[in-house]
This record gives sequence, structure tokens and C-alpha cells, in this order.
Amino acid sequence: MKEVNVLVTGAAGQIGYALLTRLASGETFGSDVKVNLNLVEVPQVVSRLEGSRMELEDCGFNTLGTVKNFSDMNEASGDVDWALLVGSIPRGITINGKKIEERADLLKINGGIFTEQGKALGENAKADAKILVVGNPANTNALIGCTHGNNESQTWMAMTALDANRAKAQVANKCNLEISDIKKMTIWGNHSPTMYPDLDNAEIKGESASGWINDQNWIESDFLRIVQQRGKAIIDARGASSATSAANAAIDTVKATLSETPEDDWFSAAVLSDGSYNVPEGLIFGFPLKADANGKVSIVQDLPISDYAQGKIELTTQELLDEKNDINDLL
Ligand code: NAD
Ligand code: LMR
Repeated sequence: MKEVNVLVTGAAGQIGYALLTRLASGETFGSDVKVNLNLVEVPQVVSRLEGSRMELEDCGFNTLGTVKNFSDMNEASGDVDWALLVGSIPRGITINGKKIEERADLLKINGGIFTEQGKALGENAKADAKILVVGNPANTNALIGCTHGNNESQTWMAMTALDANRAKAQVANKCNLEISDIKKMTIWGNHSPTMYPDLDNAEIKGESASGWINDQNWIESDFLRIVQQRGKAIIDARGASSATSAANAAIDTVKATLSETPEDDWFSAAVLSDGSYNVPEGLIFGFPLKADANGKVSIVQDLPISDYAQGKIELTTQELLDEKNDINDLL
């Protein structure tokens, strides 16, 4: 049987709990691939991972390989094919009497985690490893990790698939469609309330989604607001940030790179800008992406961008430049 080595940080957290069975069950990597899991936690809670290991064993998956627990990223990252960097604190919790409300609050707290993790992955993970940052602020954390990883053959991504799934769900509800009717959903920019979900270039049954919907007022007000603020709405309703849907989106991102992207679709994640669409190089930015048969990820080029969309893209670009400026000392 083939094998894949997958590292998950924050594995004892909410998203980690929702993620592990789906990584190990055969659903993600296929029924002919053994999944070796390296689970990483902070030393204070690493012992809880033994419970996760026992539960995984008790699922009885043929595809489960080894499960090892770590609190040291250098040890955990040896020969890793995939690293899912979930470990970090979410919004909505209180630290030292202060409620963490905004991503900016998370920048300083979480950013530091990614310097060492990036370095460890750059030195020890496989040359063609893929690294997906889920922990917020995901784009800037990925930028820190990628910078310290300093390994150009590895692929760093920050997760925007959850935003793309949210956007598709809103469109499906509005138009009474199946999710599978909606293709080519792009989330431009930051995984934050400035993200821009693009319905001009998304397609419904081969037509532009914005043309199909034919309700610009709904697109520019309701749709945009709901998708951009969905993370907060879930925190407000649940008292904790999204977990099942976040784990699901991480699985979707991994799967999207495991085979060639179909001609009539693409997927959304944030990757290091190469200057495409005039986005400054050196930002981790949400783009439309395709994977080739070898899993190499590239940015879909030459999409038309309206003046309205350009304004939104500039806004989210500026936010990422500001975030980068705020953590310059960590780069
Ligand atoms: P959680 O608090 O339930 O779990 C986080 C876990 O990370 C904890 O167990 C904690 O001990 C661990 N951790 C903290 N620092 C670590 C480190 N240095 N190394 C390893 N583990 C570490 O939180 P959660 O609900 O699982 O959310 C995790 C992160 O994902 C948050 O930052 C949240 O905002 C983010 N998130 C992102 C998206 C997205 O779409 N990108 C969606 C939902 C949540
Ligand atoms: C989400 O989008 O659900 C997460 O990023 C959590 C948050 O803080 O919004």
C-alpha cells in the first residue's frame, strides 16, 4: 500500500478533532493509501492526543497507518508530505481578561508560532511537501511560515476554501440550485472580512454566476456581507469558531491538489503572489488555482476583473500589506 505522512498541529483542538478521522478514513487520500499521522500540540495538552490516537485506532480504518504525538515540530516534521497547521488560538476566547475579537488581535499572538514551525518544515519535510495554514490570521501566518521555511520547492497555502464553500452555499440557496451546479468560485485576498468572493468569474451551468443571478443589489449587499461575516456569525451563534466546516474545507483543499483540476472548474486558496493580477509579490493572497496531474498548483490567469471587483481586490490587498507591516519583525 502507498503511504502518505500528514502532520496536524493543534490536533487536540476543535478543528483537529473534526479533521483526524476524515484524514485517516480513506476519504481524503483514497482507500489504497495508508495515512501516517504526526499530531502536534503544545506541551500542556499533548497528553490528550493519546485519546485521539485511541479513538482513531477504535475506528478500525484499513487506511490508518502510524499515529505519533509530538510537542516538538522538528521531530514531527521529518518526511512529511502534508502539514495542516491548525494550531493557534481562535477569536472569541478571553486571554488575560481581554476578549480576542479581531484578527489583528491574533496577529501578534499567533504569528510567533509560525516562525519556528516554518523553519522546521523547511528543513525536515519532503521537498515537495504541501503546507496548508488554517490557524488565523491564516494568510499572514502562512507568509511568516513560508518565509522561515525558505524552501522554494514546498508549497505554502492559506485556507480560503471555507469562504468558497460558504459563497457557493449562499448562491445555491438564492437560486435553488445544487452546490455542484456552481463552479469556479474564487475568493480573492485575505481570509478576513475584506475577502472578495467573485461571482462574475464563478459559473452556474457554464454561465457567469452574476449574470445568472441577475440581482446586483443582492450580490453587493447581502451576499458579500453574509460571506465576509460568516465566521463571526458562527462565533456569535455557537460561542466558538467554526470547526466542522473548517475541517471540511481543509479536506477539500487537500483533495483539490491530489488530482488534475477538471477543465470546467478551479479551486480557491491563498498562495504566494507572483505578481499575478497586479497583486504585490510576497503576499499570501487568495487566487483561483488549478492543480496539474503531479499536484503542482498554479494561478489561473487572465480572468476579467471589473472596476468594482478591482476596488475590492485593492482593499483586501491593502489589509494584507498592513498585516505584513505589523509583523515585519517576524519575517
Ligand atoms: P482550538 O482552540 O479548539 O484549538 C487550537 C489548538 O491549537 C489547541 O488545542 C491549542 O493547544 C493548539 N495550539 C496552540 N498553539 C500551538 C502550537 N504552537 N503548536 C501546536 N498546537 C498549538 O481552536 P480551533 O477552533 O481548532 O481553531 C484553530 C484555528 O483555526 C484558530 O486560529 C481559528 O481562528 C482558525 N480557523 C480558521 C479558519 C479558516 O477558514 N482559515 C476557519 C475556522 C477556524
Ligand atoms: C471562520 O471563518 O469561521 C474562522 O476564520 C473563524 C473566524 O475567526 O472568523
